[in-house]
Amino acid sequence: MSVLAKSSSRVHPRAISAPVIAVASGKGGVGKTWLSCTMACVFARQGKRTLLVDGDFGLANVDVQLGVRPQADLGAVMRGWVELEDAVTPVLGGVGQSGGFDLLPGSSGSGALSDLSQQELMRIGIGIKKLAFHYDRVVLDLAAGVDKSVVLLAKTADRLLVVTTEEPTALADAYALIKVTQASSPTLAPFVAVNMADKRISGKRVFDHLHKVCENHLKLRPALAGVVRRDARVPDSIRAQTPLPARHTSSDALEDVISLIEGLAL
Ligand SMILES: Nc1ncnc2c1ncn2[C@@H]1O[C@H](COP(=O)(O)OP(=O)(O)OP(=O)(O)O)[C@@H](O)[C@H]1O
Ligand SMILES: [Mg+2]
Repeated sequence: MSVLAKSSSRVHPRAISAPVIAVASGKGGVGKTWLSCTMACVFARQGKRTLLVDGDFGLANVDVQLGVRPQADLGAVMRGWVELEDAVTPVLGGVGQSGGFDLLPGSSGSGALSDLSQQELMRIGIGIKKLAFHYDRVVLDLAAGVDKSVVLLAKTADRLLVVTTEEPTALADAYALIKVTQASSPTLAPFVAVNMADKRISGKRVFDHLHKVCENHLKLRPALAGVVRRDARVPDSIRAQTPLPARHTSSDALEDVISLIEGLAL
């Protein structure tokens, strides 16, 4: 029996599907996976039935950050060994446990999903949309860059959260990502997260710059979801393979993620 089937007494399909929040960036290493895990954990603590999807098919590592060992993953799904819902893995007890959520893991460490066809990617996108009917929130951690997996999966999203840091290279790549996703999904308005900021005010300045460039060149006004400050408790919780809210009851970064979620206006 699938994990989802086992828990389906707890996770009934809804008439309305959960909003899918795609977390993306141009530049790598800006904190997408950490932010996705933390957002999923915060949603769960707010009582939302939450699914976190590892959509970084080349270098899936959400399971590693969370310290879980999935029995099945998207690699097994794509090989036809299991159904999509059979790969759903509980984290912190899973949906139905206080503070728990579900994970759809990628193919960790194998690179098995690094060369999916457009058709296969669309199959995964449709599968995620179907699963979304069992949840209140779906968070989709994407790969860095603007390749076809990012562009196609962004199409399944209701919110595109573009993560950047204060570095000019990350900002330039965030602009490129917004430009490319806007061309393929014109109705998907981007939200921006400035991560690892020195201060809230410096992060806001960086966003203002990006906003101006998007307005001038794309006639588009991205919204600031929020600024997340650099916080030593983040690498500490990643090293401990424990979500930040489960390891530290309070921290600057956690406070910022909670207000960033409000900034997504879900
Ligand atoms: N707010 C923060 N404060 C301090 N360190 C952070 C913060 N956010 C992320 N980091 C650090 O950045 C590193 C990279 O984070 P993460 O793996 O989530 O990035 P990513 O964007 O998913 O990378 P990739 O593009 O390779 O998938 C983490 O190991 C973590 O230590
Ligand atoms: Mg990542």
